[in-house]
Amino acid sequence: MNMSTTAADPRPLRTTDVRWVVEQAGRAPSVHNTQPWRFTFDGRRFDLYADTARGLTAADPDGRELVLSCGAALYNLRVALRKVGYSGTVTLLPDRSQPRLLASVEVTESSPAGAAERREYAALTRRHTHRGPFDDRVLTAELTAQLYQAADEEGGQLIYVFDPGQRRRVLQLAHAAEQAQAADERVAAEISAWTPPPGSPRRDGVPASAYSIDPIVSPDDLPSRDFDRLRGFGRLARHDPIPGVLAVLASASDLQLDWLRAGQALERVLLAAAQQWAFAAVHSALAEVHNLRAELRRELCTSAHPQLLLRFGYAPDAAVTPRRPVDDVLQLI
Ligand SMILES: Cc1cc2nc3c(=O)[nH]c(=O)nc-3n(C[C@H](O)[C@H](O)[C@H](O)COP(=O)(O)O)c2cc1C
Repeated sequence: MNMSTTAADPRPLRTTDVRWVVEQAGRAPSVHNTQPWRFTFDGRRFDLYADTARGLTAADPDGRELVLSCGAALYNLRVALRKVGYSGTVTLLPDRSQPRLLASVEVTESSPAGAAERREYAALTRRHTHRGPFDDRVLTAELTAQLYQAADEEGGQLIYVFDPGQRRRVLQLAHAAEQAQAADERVAAEISAWTPPPGSPRRDGVPASAYSIDPIVSPDDLPSRDFDRLRGFGRLARHDPIPGVLAVLASASDLQLDWLRAGQALERVLLAAAQQWAFAAVHSALAEVHNLRAELRRELCTSAHPQLLLRFGYAPDAAVTPRRPVDDVLQLI
């Protein structure tokens, strides 16, 4: 067999690039910053696995948000591959006999990244969940349409809640969800386990710098998740709410495949926003309480399945959160 490489042969991805690409994938948002993913690379293909030991058994017993989080990491992997001049052909759920194997990505050398792809990658490094105030500019109609389009391109649906009456009712449902969860000891214990104290060396979980001591409870705004739980950990300055644009990310049906697509849609939307210095607060409590999630669906008069609530606005920056080292999430085989 002739193993020599000619000019026309595609170059395999170098190990340094493999590690770099996985590092970028890991910058994705994940529920409670659990980073519930594992990657393998065999020289030409990445496999993405759900790390179910990092699942939230109380708040997310079906692993829906775990898979959404992995979908977001998968989208970042695609963006990072393009940045280094490669492209990935993605197969979702490639092997039904391996339920934790969520996606395979065949890697091929491709053209150098274009300007739009480089801008998208720059947004990937800038994107963070924004739990502080937004500035008082309203989202432009153009950006609103771009975010809708971004979700659509990945098979997701972004449903804006502009009508004041509908907004009020969605906020009521969100507050009801927050109260239901506040009374659930298992959910409370899970939040405590994923919110290490200030100064902790942990590279996962929501850091104290990302939330404030008192969660927002204004009826005019989505309730913030109570990460502090009266422990006095929160270090984010308390602020008056500036509500931002409210939207629901939804999927056509509610199976693992839809969650993977919705996760990719989520990240594509967030990167489109970050390109314009718009960021989002993510609110998933409402979709975690079954009867309230069903009520939200009725309120939106949609056959789609709500996955998350998002609140968008412009902000100068958003707090950085830690990530696990690449060696913890990547295996070269
Ligand atoms: C599926 C999912 C659900 C989330 N739910 C919430 C939430 O209810 N409240 C919140 O403040 N952040 C939520 N987040 C944001 C995560 O806490 C955040 O992504 C994580 O802490 C990492 O921080 P980063 O997004 O700034 O990189 C969610 C993210 C994902 C992907």
